[in-house]
Amino acid sequence: MKATAKANTNIALIKYWGKRDEKLFLPMNSSISITLDRFFTVTTVEFNERFSKDTFLLNGSEAGEKESKKVFNFLSKIKELAGIDLNAMITSENKVPIAAGLASSASGFAALAGAAAKALNLQLNDKELSILARQGSGSACRSVYGGYVEWQKGEKSDGKDSAANQLLPEKEWDISILSVLVASKEKKVSSREGMKRTVLTSPFYQGWLNTVEKDLETAKKAISIKDFKVLGEVVEENALKMHATMLGAKPPIIYWESGTLAVIEKVQRLRLSGIQVYFTIDAGPNVKVLCLPEDEKMVYKALLSTPGVLEVITCKPGSGITYL
Ligand code: ADP
Ligand code: DP6
Repeated sequence: MKATAKANTNIALIKYWGKRDEKLFLPMNSSISITLDRFFTVTTVEFNERFSKDTFLLNGSEAGEKESKKVFNFLSKIKELAGIDLNAMITSENKVPIAAGLASSASGFAALAGAAAKALNLQLNDKELSILARQGSGSACRSVYGGYVEWQKGEKSDGKDSAANQLLPEKEWDISILSVLVASKEKKVSSREGMKRTVLTSPFYQGWLNTVEKDLETAKKAISIKDFKVLGEVVEENALKMHATMLGAKPPIIYWESGTLAVIEKVQRLRLSGIQVYFTIDAGPNVKVLCLPEDEKMVYKALLSTPGVLEVITCKPGSGITYL
């Protein structure tokens, strides 16, 4: 009983920030993302009665206690679903920096869910797989699908209606997403901890909830008619609002570094010169810059020469989960 799955990461255009149920990973608000083609995880899961315990190898060595615990908790949910009590060997390779705000948890848990479900022959459809992946890491439910994806928060308390669906396939709208690395070390506050603290302590969190529905509507409409300017504007506003909620948390959470601000300024300057270019930032210092394919080379050059920028990786909308 062995299978291998590959899942791409996704970046949120309209962010998931805050849970209404921590155990089931149910979000306070719906979110929208793009799946990326260049950052991904490949995970193999093997269940075997010869294994005396569960093992998790990440990038060639046994993962730390914190990482393993998350993975084993998730695995126990899958074992329960399948009604089995076998131990597993999980081997995972990330082609994405870990815990740097580049969504390693999204590709990581989507690939794990896919490989484990396949190894156990669970025969899940995409929606069921999305619901399963969500329970490893919320954003992972979006990585089941390619292209432009929405995660509907759902209303039910059992989470059966909290799943992602595709808004537009990756091939239908070619945009460029430049991933700008200003740091690749592990962030101090995980997304999980950051959103929890924000919900519990930030006086600005209610302001987030008051406006996110409108942002979702605007983004969905822009994607459906491929209006890059409208999409870019709402994406940028939404990211800044999410970071504003964190600044109000106690203790405050600041993911940005000096390079982050330098990139923001560069994007704003490029825009003043007439180029349609927008940024978004997840829970980390690195920045994702969106532009049209015809401006990609120029924007790439401008970003690479910005102080504090270590690397710029150009991505395109990528595919959903695949099996190797
Ligand atoms: P980011 O998603 O920005 O990389 P997070 O703090 O949200 O940062 O998630 C990072 C965590 O995701 C890691 O600490 C680890 O627990 C988990 N993770 C990363 N890669 C994998 C993987 N391949 N398989 C399972 N879990 C993973
Ligand atoms: C800022 O999905 O990593 O990237 O559900 O606790 O595992 P958990 O959190 P995670 O959080 C992602 C937060 C974000 C926004 C987003 O991807 O929508």
